Amino acid sequence: MQGSANLNLMKKAARKVGRALVKDFREVENLQVSSKGPGDFVTRADREAEKALREALLGDRPTYGFLGEESRETEGVDPTRRWIVDPLDGTTNFLHGLPHWAVSIALEHKGEIIAGVIFDAAKDEMFWAEKGSGAWMNESRLRVSGRRAMHESIFATGVPHSGKGTLPASLQDFARLSPVCAGVRSWGSAALNMAYVAAGRFDGYWERGVQPWDIAAGLVLVREAGGMVSAIREGDDPLVKGSIVCANDPLFEGFRRVIRGE
Ligand code: IPD
Ligand code: CA
Ligand code: CA
Repeated sequence: MQGSANLNLMKKAARKVGRALVKDFREVENLQVSSKGPGDFVTRADREAEKALREALLGDRPTYGFLGEESRETEGVDPTRRWIVDPLDGTTNFLHGLPHWAVSIALEHKGEIIAGVIFDAAKDEMFWAEKGSGAWMNESRLRVSGRRAMHESIFATGVPHSGKGTLPASLQDFARLSPVCAGVRSWGSAALNMAYVAAGRFDGYWERGVQPWDIAAGLVLVREAGGMVSAIREGDDPLVKGSIVCANDPLFEGFRRVIRGE
């Protein structure tokens, strides 16, 4: 499957930065045992990764805007197109030497995400999707899972650290959902949670307190894999209100009702 020129640019940038991060990740494993720990090193690696993505993406498309986690937003000369980037999603995993993190790049056009790439460099899995062209992992087409029963389904979420105001509500979600499903996973990367829903590995994912760069690429992946996505509250836009729930079609409504406490 051939993608558009923009999609190829996104994949190339994600691959380049992902490979550099794999080298940094090996270094983190060495720093783990040093008394200072790998904290500052990871912060630097993260910022460098965003700088490289900014240069690659705006270098080829200088009129687009750029929203990234690690730097100030750049308004584009073309106000209708914007890159939304998380150079390293799953920083805490990276910092702890856990190989579950990704580079995430989305392209927004007139407020809608039209292409997304999530690259898990440690496992060499490139998840990508473009509106109207399906969702893919490397060369394989993706579909959301076919499960219809909540009690057979596995859901992913992000359990916030105690400093985040969303912790009490997230724990209540957990208390409502756990008894009616086959399990809840919190593996520490919002982007990969969504990629895994698109791949049918998780049956659904929800989270409170997410940022646009955590979920932008995942939105188009899940939709193109045949899944449903919305904010937790009726009528909200997940990119604006920072909450998300997604799943396959048969599970979606029931799952969302449990999360909403209805
Ligand atoms: C975080 C991860 C985590 C999610 C948080 C995000 P970061 O992003 O995606 O899984 O629970 O909401 O902030 O800080 O690793 O880029
Ligand atoms: Ca993130
Ligand atoms: Ca990040």
